[in-house]
Amino acid sequence: MEIAKELFGKIDGTDVFLFTLVNKSGMQLQVTNYGGIVTSIKVPDKNGKFDDIVLGYDSLKGYLIETPYFGAIVGRCANRISYGKFTLDGKDYTLSLNEGPHHLHGGTVGFDKKIWQATPMTDDSSSSLKLQYTSPDGEEGYPGNLDVTVVYTLTNDNKFQIEYTAKTDKATPINLTHHTYFNLAGTSGRNILDHIIQINADRYCSTNPDLTPTGEILNVEGTNMDFRTPLPIGARIGMVRGGYDHNYILNTKGQFGKAAELYDEKSGRVIEVFTTEPGMQFYSGNFLDGSIVGEYGLVYQKNYGLCLETQRFPDAINQPNFPDNILRPGETYKQLTIYKFGVR
Ligand code: BGC
Repeated sequence: MEIAKELFGKIDGTDVFLFTLVNKSGMQLQVTNYGGIVTSIKVPDKNGKFDDIVLGYDSLKGYLIETPYFGAIVGRCANRISYGKFTLDGKDYTLSLNEGPHHLHGGTVGFDKKIWQATPMTDDSSSSLKLQYTSPDGEEGYPGNLDVTVVYTLTNDNKFQIEYTAKTDKATPINLTHHTYFNLAGTSGRNILDHIIQINADRYCSTNPDLTPTGEILNVEGTNMDFRTPLPIGARIGMVRGGYDHNYILNTKGQFGKAAELYDEKSGRVIEVFTTEPGMQFYSGNFLDGSIVGEYGLVYQKNYGLCLETQRFPDAINQPNFPDNILRPGETYKQLTIYKFGVR
């Protein structure tokens, strides 16, 4: 398998590239080393018709002007850190605040806005793009130089695999994720409310109106949050304040296993999500509001795409109830997440 590389644009004189990975059955993944952004994923529907099932732009410029983290690697800590503050080993830290009084998705210039060093790697059964970035000590307020490697792999059996590793020289919170917005209807213009989702989670993290966690862990049983049995996203979304934007606590408990399945009946397209992570943020694209016109001239209205962000629990560094998300010198952070595409 081969990887094509073309110039995508320049940022402050530095070249940014677009890489195209294609597998034996024609599935195509495009990635730029700016933010590790997945700009397109083309998969067939049940009639064999290929279409792009992710939200984004056709040029680098779009991503530089405005993006709600389309397709990006998110870090150093995904989701919110309340008031951008935490105490670690007796020391107080203040992070950059980029969502009102809170810190969101790694801050003002998070990993989604960095130029990553990219190395294509291919063999007979897969093609991969290795992305590396070193986040310096103090960046966005975080302690320690953090070396991060993310390897995106496209396999011949239609899996998009993401392997993350990181090492630090000072204790730091860490929570990496991937922020692709999926719409299995492709470029048809249909939103995701009739997509059927199943999430393998008995519990979720409750949130305040500003979407920071309250620290409480609630059961999905008997609530509009329960997706243990497959249901259309739109069935009960109107009864959930703001729409779905919650960390589901996966029943796999941090062991590699199936987190979720997303199915669009009309196109027949399916995504199965597997991960080593203990949580998954199900975000139903609630803040899309029609102000962004993306690739193919599509207007991204509310609920036009959804994210399935495998992760550690948001704000874990401040929540005594949540499992710890601290990486210490000598340890290696590891995560494996697979999005497997198919039709039914
Ligand atoms: C969060 C949303 C946030 C969005 C940014 C998601 O991961 O859960 O609350 O608004 O990212 O586009």
